[in-house]
Amino acid sequence: MSLIRQHLIDPEICIRCNTCEETCPVDAVTHNDDNYVVDAAKCEYCLDCISPCPTGAIDNWRVVSAPYSLEEQFSWTELPEQEEVDESELTADKGAAIDDEAAALIAVAHQGEGGRARAPASASKPQVNLYTIAKPAIARVVGNYRLTAPEANNDIRHVVLDFGGTAFPILEGQSIGIIPQGTDEKGKPHRMRLYSVSSARDGERPNHNNVALTVKREKIGVASNYICDLKKGDEVKVAGPYGATFLMPNDPEANIIMICTGTGSAPFRGFTERRRRAMPRAAGRLMLFFGARRPEELPYFGPLKKVPADVLDQELVFSRLPDRPKEYVQDRMRKHDEDIAALLEDDNTYIFVCGLKGMEAGVTEALADICRLHGLDWKRVHAAMLETGRFHVETY
Ligand SMILES: Cc1cc2nc3c(=O)[nH]c(=O)nc-3n(C[C@H](O)[C@H](O)[C@H](O)COP(=O)(O)OP(=O)(O)OC[C@H]3O[C@@H](n4cnc5c(N)ncnc54)[C@H](O)[C@@H]3O)c2cc1C
Ligand SMILES: NC(=O)c1ccc[n+]([C@@H]2O[C@H](COP(=O)([O-])OP(=O)(O)OC[C@H]3O[C@@H](n4cnc5c(N)ncnc54)[C@H](OP(=O)(O)O)[C@@H]3O)[C@@H](O)[C@H]2O)c1
Ligand code: SF4
Ligand code: SF4
Repeated sequence: MSLIRQHLIDPEICIRCNTCEETCPVDAVTHNDDNYVVDAAKCEYCLDCISPCPTGAIDNWRVVSAPYSLEEQFSWTELPEQEEVDESELTADKGAAIDDEAAALIAVAHQGEGGRARAPASASKPQVNLYTIAKPAIARVVGNYRLTAPEANNDIRHVVLDFGGTAFPILEGQSIGIIPQGTDEKGKPHRMRLYSVSSARDGERPNHNNVALTVKREKIGVASNYICDLKKGDEVKVAGPYGATFLMPNDPEANIIMICTGTGSAPFRGFTERRRRAMPRAAGRLMLFFGARRPEELPYFGPLKKVPADVLDQELVFSRLPDRPKEYVQDRMRKHDEDIAALLEDDNTYIFVCGLKGMEAGVTEALADICRLHGLDWKRVHAAMLETGRFHVETY
């Protein structure tokens, strides 16, 4: 069966402003008195209409075997759910290339979720695919600071990118694609790499159109060295935003358990900052398990120590302290079994895991053991959390 990715407009969000119809170079967008719609037979997936749309209604896609007709779309009051399909059967010229590179990277990063991921029901609606590898946004570097101590073995950097007058709406937990300058040994442009934003949705500097990244320099790594060496004023090509499920619940009552190593802390810095700015007296708990070799190698160690305990419950875990046994995040989680079990019994608890792929198994085992110890069944807890968008993994 051949499938296509169909471009659709969300009738519940669209404000019928006509911008997309004016923008589309091939007249694929049309409307009646009820809805703006996209003609599947005409759309060429150029994405020109995506960034000018003021609401994000235009940025909706369904993989289908037979496209929804114009008549069906005119009569909709809401978009249909995505059917269960095998996306590997997407027809090459029918939208398969749209964000496929990013989608494939994210699919691998989310494998540890063990099922179909859903965004938390209360999460704000993300915008995705506004900019592509072919048509990236241009950002300017406004800061690049080393986060790890001078004597540390790893070089992790806090890089701030400013989009100036270009709209780049982003939510905490989403990623952006950085396209490194230059070409590979075969003369082809370098592949895009994904980086989580580590700032809150209203900017690293509030109400400025900027984002922060937390990037670790990898030995011989193309993109990480490119980013870590960027200087103030340099221009960078950015695609995205990407990611529609690893998003924080927009609910001050929600408890969020965040488990990370190294640069996996990036989205959780965004989550914490969002809570602090938008919901300073939130009743829900924010609990962070954060692993690094030593304090010198833990990004944001200094600033983290200043976050008050009533905002963030911090468990900083070190694996290579002199004269101390090795400890990983999952070991520390076991020490807080009662706390975690009580949170798992609460239907308003969310778990987010981010960082080293290698920690997935250990973290899942710890959760299963904690459940067993407290008369819970992790299989059932996990299934219920997945179903309600409360269990999220992004590892790389
Ligand atoms: C959803 C998502 C979010 C992410 N978020 C972040 C983030 O917030 N921060 C972050 O730092 N990273 C993040 N990453 C990882 C990031 O996308 C890159 O994969 C990472 O920075 C390495 O890219 P690179 O181009 O530097 O390395 P690459 O050039 O792609 O190399 C990959 C690895 O191979 C090794 N290697 C390359 N060439 C050789 C060789 N000849 N011999 C031996 N080894 C070699 C490199 O050392 C490196 O470890 C994320 C990934 C995903 C999927
Ligand atoms: N010089 C460079 O340019 C460069 C660049 C990149 C990396 N490095 C090397 O990478 C090292 C680590 O860098 P990093 O601090 O950013 O760390 P990381 O590799 O991201 O690891 C973070 C933490 O996770 C722990 N960990 C490893 N496996 C785990 C598992 N299965 N479950 C749970 N936790 C696990 C690590 O412990 P353990 O590691 O103790 O097992 C460490 O405490 C550096 O010390 C350095 O040697 C160097
Ligand atoms: S630009 Fe967006 S909001 Fe305006 S009509 Fe098109 S889809 Fe609707
Ligand atoms: S993606 Fe391009 S061709 Fe398709 S509706 Fe938008 S502007 Fe028109």
